[in-house]
Amino acid sequence: MSKLVALCKRRGIVFQSSEIYGGVGSTFDYGPPGVEMKNNIARLWWQDMTFRHENIVGLDSAVILHPRVWETSGHVKKFHEEFIECRNCKKRFKSEDLFSIAKESFIRYIDAHLHKKPIQPKDMIITGEFLNRYINELDNELSQHPGELSDSFIDNIVNTFVDTIVRNLKHVTCPNCNETGFLTDPRNFQLMFKSNIGVVEDESNLIFFRPETAQGMYVDYRIVQESSRLKVPFGIAQIGKAFRIEITPGNFIFRTREFEQMEMQFFVRPGETSEWLQYWKEQRWNWYLSMGASPDKLRWAQHPQDKLPHYAREAWDVEYEFPFGWSELEGVHDRGEYDLKAHQEASGKDMTYFDDEQKARYIPHIVETSAGLNRTMLMLLCDAYREDVQAGESRVYLALDPKVAPVKAAIFPLVKKDGLAEIARAVADDLRGRWPVFYDAQGSIGRRYRRQDEIGTPYAFTIDYQTKDDGTVTVRWRDTLEQERIGKDRIGDFLIEKFGRL
Ligand code: GAP
Repeated sequence: MSKLVALCKRRGIVFQSSEIYGGVGSTFDYGPPGVEMKNNIARLWWQDMTFRHENIVGLDSAVILHPRVWETSGHVKKFHEEFIECRNCKKRFKSEDLFSIAKESFIRYIDAHLHKKPIQPKDMIITGEFLNRYINELDNELSQHPGELSDSFIDNIVNTFVDTIVRNLKHVTCPNCNETGFLTDPRNFQLMFKSNIGVVEDESNLIFFRPETAQGMYVDYRIVQESSRLKVPFGIAQIGKAFRIEITPGNFIFRTREFEQMEMQFFVRPGETSEWLQYWKEQRWNWYLSMGASPDKLRWAQHPQDKLPHYAREAWDVEYEFPFGWSELEGVHDRGEYDLKAHQEASGKDMTYFDDEQKARYIPHIVETSAGLNRTMLMLLCDAYREDVQAGESRVYLALDPKVAPVKAAIFPLVKKDGLAEIARAVADDLRGRWPVFYDAQGSIGRRYRRQDEIGTPYAFTIDYQTKDDGTVTVRWRDTLEQERIGKDRIGDFLIEKFGRL
């Protein structure tokens, strides 16, 4: 990750926002190649989710919705996170993360005790008097039932241990700084950003920045359905910013407080969510493959019943194996009638739909696909990062699918003199407008190639002395460095052959 972060900064792809003032917690700016790449991803998502389906339409709803939307959606009451802070090192943990770290440590601790292996100091997550209590219990059980301990006994002792941790945080060691006695009690945190509309700051004009784009699509669903004359099943797609006061932002652009979502809400007949959930899982999986992601680094993870988001009846995550471990890229959710029913009750407005095939009126049920734009970009960057050695020199390049690469072709004159720069400029100007191309005449040709490799430019065309004789140029492919000569008038056709018109 640190190499990728350094590359992103060096090439101006993504970097800390407001850096001249020391940056602001986990917010990032997308420089020239970064914004191109992000726009490419968004465009490819939009094409896949709207143009390809006659029954899915787009929407761009506001970031600031009526505050009652968020009361009704359940976000005001339920979109909370519980966290514990270490007063010594200031690290914040989601409570459940801290408890699962403690649990893992304790399991290693008992394993070491039972198998007479050395105990690692970092597994002494709680002070000795508490651990001894459990060790005595274990030894007692073993003396009464020599041989293996039963699974239920182990489960029971581990669960009781976690309960002990929850109630005795002042005796627990911080897994980050290894100091004991500094963890705070769990505190609850509302994850939505708040502000006020108007000059007076009071409860009456409190507003929230949307934490998901989905609600805009629910509150507008009737007007969209009627104006576009859509029949169930149909979908509404939206790309836009969302905001969350994340307690543990991090891993570069993986988890930030301001981010972009690419969401699609699919409105179906009651009772048909399971089959549509299956359909959309397949569609979304295939989209990641079409973006060039490595299939062996993708997997599905289902949310267990007790870990479902408050609105979902069934939830699946597409996960990617990032350098920091398997983590969520996108959620595909069966939201049932939860949202529309709640909005109908709270607003008093009719949210039903008349199905003229079935001659029935009902509240449509919803299957949602909810992807992170920034996360998809991070995934593609991680997936594409390569290092190799060419002629004794190390090289870094991004093996991005040409569809998502920020620049499609680089045009270089071998040298600036003897009219080569003029020919190269004319070639670049001819291509510009059809593809994002980059003209560069500065520095050695090797350096120019490497700068483009680092932002994943698939092809570089070099105009040299032979061009003046026979009108051909060399084209170099980023990944293998293979070169061939083609006529300069064929560059446009060559690019169309390689990745089509944009
Ligand atoms: N409407 C459903 C919803 O918002 P979610 O699982 O909370 O579901 C969906 O979020 C996606 O949005 C995630 O899979 C992730 O890609 C992206 N996302 C959520 N929080 C994020 C954050 N703090 N930073 C970057 N992306 C985030």
